[in-house]
Amino acid sequence: MTQDSRDESESDTPPDTTRTRAVLITGAGGEIGHGLVHSLQEAGQQNLLAVDLNPLDSSVASRCRETVVADIRDEAAMARLFASYEIDTVYHLAALLSSTAEKRPFDAHDINVNGTITLMRLAREHASQHNSRVRFLFPSTIAVYGLPDLPTKNRAEPVREDQFLQPITMYGCNKLYCEQVGRYLTWRDREASGGLDFRAVRFPGILSAETTPTGGTSDFAPLMIHHAAKGERYASFVDADRTIPFVTMPDAIRAIEQLAAADAKRLSQTVYNVGAFSPSAGDFAEKTRACFPEADIAFEPVAARQNIVDSWPARVDDRAARHDWRYQPQYDFDAAFESYLIPGIQRAISAT
Ligand SMILES: NC(=O)c1ccc[n+]([C@@H]2O[C@H](COP(=O)([O-])OP(=O)(O)OC[C@H]3O[C@@H](n4cnc5c(N)ncnc54)[C@H](O)[C@@H]3O)[C@@H](O)[C@H]2O)c1
Repeated sequence: MTQDSRDESESDTPPDTTRTRAVLITGAGGEIGHGLVHSLQEAGQQNLLAVDLNPLDSSVASRCRETVVADIRDEAAMARLFASYEIDTVYHLAALLSSTAEKRPFDAHDINVNGTITLMRLAREHASQHNSRVRFLFPSTIAVYGLPDLPTKNRAEPVREDQFLQPITMYGCNKLYCEQVGRYLTWRDREASGGLDFRAVRFPGILSAETTPTGGTSDFAPLMIHHAAKGERYASFVDADRTIPFVTMPDAIRAIEQLAAADAKRLSQTVYNVGAFSPSAGDFAEKTRACFPEADIAFEPVAARQNIVDSWPARVDDRAARHDWRYQPQYDFDAAFESYLIPGIQRAISAT
């Protein structure tokens, strides 16, 4: 539908109020998707629609009203979902992550940009037909930043949302562009009776006790811990002094849910940083060895991957999130290990 036909549909087509209200989650089979589906369902959300390229495991599928194995770029499959339900919120998680995107940059562009734009367009048309706002939650990333060199990174104050936006990866470029389009459409629809309500949270590295990450450049930290727990050697692809911010998975999920629930009037911007703690890779190794004394951890930097980490901030300024929607991470570095990661990983290992 073009902008013109969108405007026509606003006036000509009465909203169909008989369809079931639902929440759409793309990339539901991934690390964040697993936790988010569990959390939303436990909070009473009965009508979750889950999309992923790969079949969803039963722990996710059993919590959803409908699951669809499809590529987000399959417009007909996505349009069918919007036609079948009254979707009020989209959590658009599906993406190719940073390391995978560097290997397949044009696939990444196609999925991370074209796939996202297709979903934003469908969500916006849907909102217009229903004279409503569709909240479009977009997990963005610290990969949108591109600090020019290590001394600048080490000197920098916690980086604000509008600083150093010169990403050095395809993934970072993709996410930054989609943030801009989301901001633009939300602004453009501000006075319409229906439209897109885009909200992005820029995550740092995420540490999960339940899942092992793949494809991300912050993976050196969680992989170190997961390997140590299994008694396996791990060689970090960044040196011991390298530092980026992290957050635990429960805090990341709480953040995206809180942002989704926030009253639009309280939001002073469309894109928010969130951080929790910023240990170096060496701090991670030390803490991991304290928990697993047999841990065999080495540092074997891979220049291409370390350069990416060097372009990301050591700390982010997340005061806007803390002020506007009361973001407050529950885990600092010590609590993340002692109260979340170690017990969670040990539970997962003893269950296998
Ligand atoms: N995990 C992190 O540290 C981190 C940090 C910052 C931002 N993010 C963002 O959060 C989101 C989710 O990340 P994650 O860690 O769960 O990633 P993940 O790789 O674990 O999951 C992504 C999921 O998307 C699916 N997917 C990929 N391409 C698809 C396509 N074309 N169509 C349908 N499904 C597709 C994959 O099958 C996978 O299940 C991503 O947008 C990512 O950029 C993650």
